[in-house]
Amino acid sequence: MGEYVTLHYAGREFQLPLVEGSQGEKAIDISRLRQDTGLITLDPGFANTGSCRSAITFVDGERGILRYRGIPVEQLAERSTFKETAYLLINGVLPTQQEQTRFSVLLNDNSLVHEDMKTFYQNFPRSSHPMGILSAMVNALRSFYPEIQNLEEEINITVTRLLSKVRTMAAMSYKISRGHTVVYPRPDLTYCANFLNMMFDSPVRPYELDPDVVKALNVFLILHADHEQNCSTAAVRVVGSARVNLYAAISAGIAALWGPLHGGANQAVIEMLQDIVVKKNLGQAVARAKDRKDAYRLMGFGHRVYKTYDPRAKIMKRMVHLLLEKLRLSDPLLEVALELEEIALKDDYFVEHHLYPNVDFYSGIALRAIGIPTNMFTVLFAIGRLPGWIAQWKESMDDPDWKLCRPRQVYAGPAERPYVSIEER
Ligand code: ACO
Repeated sequence: MGEYVTLHYAGREFQLPLVEGSQGEKAIDISRLRQDTGLITLDPGFANTGSCRSAITFVDGERGILRYRGIPVEQLAERSTFKETAYLLINGVLPTQQEQTRFSVLLNDNSLVHEDMKTFYQNFPRSSHPMGILSAMVNALRSFYPEIQNLEEEINITVTRLLSKVRTMAAMSYKISRGHTVVYPRPDLTYCANFLNMMFDSPVRPYELDPDVVKALNVFLILHADHEQNCSTAAVRVVGSARVNLYAAISAGIAALWGPLHGGANQAVIEMLQDIVVKKNLGQAVARAKDRKDAYRLMGFGHRVYKTYDPRAKIMKRMVHLLLEKLRLSDPLLEVALELEEIALKDDYFVEHHLYPNVDFYSGIALRAIGIPTNMFTVLFAIGRLPGWIAQWKESMDDPDWKLCRPRQVYAGPAERPYVSIEER
């Protein structure tokens, strides 16, 4: 018999089995808890709850380790491309040359967006946030591409369509928001080069692709490609558990990612740094973040899982320096960010709370250098996270233990009471 923990309750003894992951992480299997004991668990924010077994991404928050399908993210950022990393996450292995070529052809073949979708874009109010538009448009894709009966074929084509079209749709929304002509994808360009060209090429100023900028975008997207059961991925899995179509599940993920405590933090960091530069109030910002009575937080600091420096932030910080140097740019926000980090890492409050820069702290500075407007930052995160969401959704579809996600609650409302008519109230 394997290991178990013993629970003593109501004069009885219950044995709860322990399960162990491939990296030695242990968990109590409580799947029979309610059935056997009548008890449920209470875990706000699911901070202690494993929702599935997963073979996609390994994170060790204490040691600052992140691996996709076993491969350290540092190696992927250094040597891989986003397209190859996407393939790895979704298929579990790196592609052969032949598989890579076929994947590229499929992505190219599916890169156009139905022309009728342009009218949708044009009718959103100009002030709409691109994340709201992207979430709505990804959901709308189902109407343009109805379901195919063969399940395997349906999944394969939907995955390819999403990977390719979301990139086109993101660039398209930017062009339309500026009142400019949409730039179409080009089959001769790589995944990231194509995105940059669709964003920035124009008849009056042809976009010159810089290999270092293309590399920087690849690194940015690789660093965001998956992060196990985070808020938006959990949303994709929970919504997907109702066996909804993949477009709808991804649309839910995009909506979750939009939040400033999650992916929206990259935009919030830049707004915070800009505010500090304008008001010259760095000391006050740090003091406010430490004040329990003040809801203000240092955006881009802290993480539910990492209790040490986020490995992605380390790579991002290095990349920002290289990129600015290459582009001969100096960004006052980088100066403030470096100063803020230095102060925070020496401050007792941040040390005691294990608050370190997360992936979003430096990413916005990289995106600014590339020319991405601030309100598109989280859209870039969504393009990056897409293969992770898809891989996690696929894994959940194939999981023999998978059930409809339906948490329980501890009811804290009034006991039964009679209805009172309006005249008697
Ligand atoms: N600034 C100041 N204090 C903070 C911060 C911060 N950025 N983050 C956490 N804390 C403090 C909290 O006030 C709390 O203090 P207390 O225990 O004295 O009351 C303690 O640290 C724990 O905070 P929680 O919110 O319970 O921690 P949780 O794990 O739920 O939060 C989160 C993680 C949401 C990321 C949080 O650190 C935060 O809000 N950070 C800023 C937003 C951000 O950068 N989000 C991006 C995360 S990365 C990603 O999603 C891609």
